[in-house]
Amino acid sequence: MKFNNILITGGAGFIGSNLIRYIFEKTDFTGRIINLDKLTYAGNPLNIVDIEQKEHGKRYFFEHGDICDYDNDVRIFKQYDVDAIIHLAAESHVDRSIIGPGEFIRTNINGTFALLEACCSVWKDRKDVRFHHVSTDEVFGSLGAVGYFTETTAYDPRSPYSSSKASSDHLVRAYFHTYGLPITLTNCSNNYGPYQFPEKLIPVMIYNMRDRKPLPVYGDGKNIRDWLYVEDHNSAVWTVLQNGKIGESYNIGGENEWENIKLVNTLCEIFAQETGADEAEIKGLITFVKDRPGHDRRYAIDCSKLKKELDWRQSVDFNRGLRKTVRWYLDNIKWAESIRSGEYLKWIEKNYKDR
Ligand code: NAD
Ligand code: TYD
Repeated sequence: MKFNNILITGGAGFIGSNLIRYIFEKTDFTGRIINLDKLTYAGNPLNIVDIEQKEHGKRYFFEHGDICDYDNDVRIFKQYDVDAIIHLAAESHVDRSIIGPGEFIRTNINGTFALLEACCSVWKDRKDVRFHHVSTDEVFGSLGAVGYFTETTAYDPRSPYSSSKASSDHLVRAYFHTYGLPITLTNCSNNYGPYQFPEKLIPVMIYNMRDRKPLPVYGDGKNIRDWLYVEDHNSAVWTVLQNGKIGESYNIGGENEWENIKLVNTLCEIFAQETGADEAEIKGLITFVKDRPGHDRRYAIDCSKLKKELDWRQSVDFNRGLRKTVRWYLDNIKWAESIRSGEYLKWIEKNYKDR
C-alpha cells in the first residue's frame, strides 16, 4: 500500500534515523516524513542532520515532543494528514530498564497507548491507513541450545524492557481485534550499524578498544544473539509496511547467531586490522564482569514467514557489515565525543528550543 505522510516516532534514535535515511535514499517513496521524538539521552538530532539539511520543511518535518502526550499526537496526525505511523520510540536499553524501569513503562506502554488512541480518534474507521509497530525478539524470552522464535512462540519476557515491549505488542494487537485498527507488527533481533548509542555491546567495545579500556563481557560470554545490519531491519520494516497483511506480525532476523565472546574477539581482530593496533594487546583488554541479572541466554529468530510471504532477504554479510561498522565509529569520533561530553544536548537546546 502507498502512503503519503508517514509519522515516524523515535526517528532521532539509532534505528529510526537509519530508517528515515533509508526511506529517502533507497525507496521510491515520494511523500513526507514527520519525525516525532522527545530527544531523550538516546535521541540525537545529529543522527539525522544530513536529511534535515536537505529536506526540512519540504519532505521532512521534525516535531520535538513526547508520544505520551495524547493531545499533541492528535494535533500532529491532523496537521500533517498522517496516513501511516511507524512506531519506534521507546526506552530501549535492557541494563537501564533493570536500574530504572519506570520510564520504560511510561514510554513503551503508556506512550504506545496514547498513539493508538490518537489513531482511533483521528482515523476513525479508515482502512487506507496503517499503524506499524516495531518490536523486539526479546518478548519471546530466552532459548536453550536449540530452537527458534517463530511468530507463534508464546510471549515470555524476562526483563522490564522486554516486558514493556511485550505489553505494547499486546495493546497494538488488541486495537486490531477490538477496534479494527489496521496494524502490522515486526519483532526483530539485535541490530548493529552506524549511530547506535554507545552503551550497546558493539559501540561500547569499539570505543573501549580505541581508548584501551577494559572490554566488559558479562558472565561467561556465552550468551548468544542473532545480529542483523540495521539497514536490513529497515528494508524489512519497509517491506511489511508496503506488502504485509493487516493484523499480522513478522519476525525479522539475521540468521546469524554469535556467542558474545566470539563476537568480541572478532571485533578485536577487525579493529587491529583497521587501525594497525596490536591484536594481542586489544584482546588482552577483554574482561569478564558480573553478569546482567536475568540475562537471557540465547535469541534466535526464524524469519521464514517474511522470506516466503514477502520475499525479503538480508543483504549485508556479517563480516562486511562489522568491518563497515568499526570503520564508521572510528571515522565518527566527533559524534561519539559530542555524546560523551553532553555537547549534543547543548546543540538540542540551541537548535530546538523554539520549535
Ligand atoms: P534508541 O534508544 O536508539 O532510540 C529511541 C528513540 O526514541 C530516541 O530517539 C528517543 O529520543 C526516542 N524516545 C524515547 N522516549 C520517547 C518518548 N516518550 N516520546 C518520543 N520519543 C521518545 O532505540 P533503537 O535501538 O533505535 O530502537 C528503536 C525501536 O526498535 C525500539 O522500539 C526498540 O524496542 C526496537 N528494536 C530495537 C532493536 C535493537 O537492536 N536496537 C532490535 C529490535 C527492536
Ligand atoms: P546489548 O547490546 O545490550 O543488547 P541486548 O541486551 O538487547 O541483547 O547486549 C548484547 C549482548 O551483549 C547481551 O548478551 C549482553 C552483552 N553485553 C556485554 O557482555 N557487555 C556489555 O558491555 C554490553 C553492553 C552487553
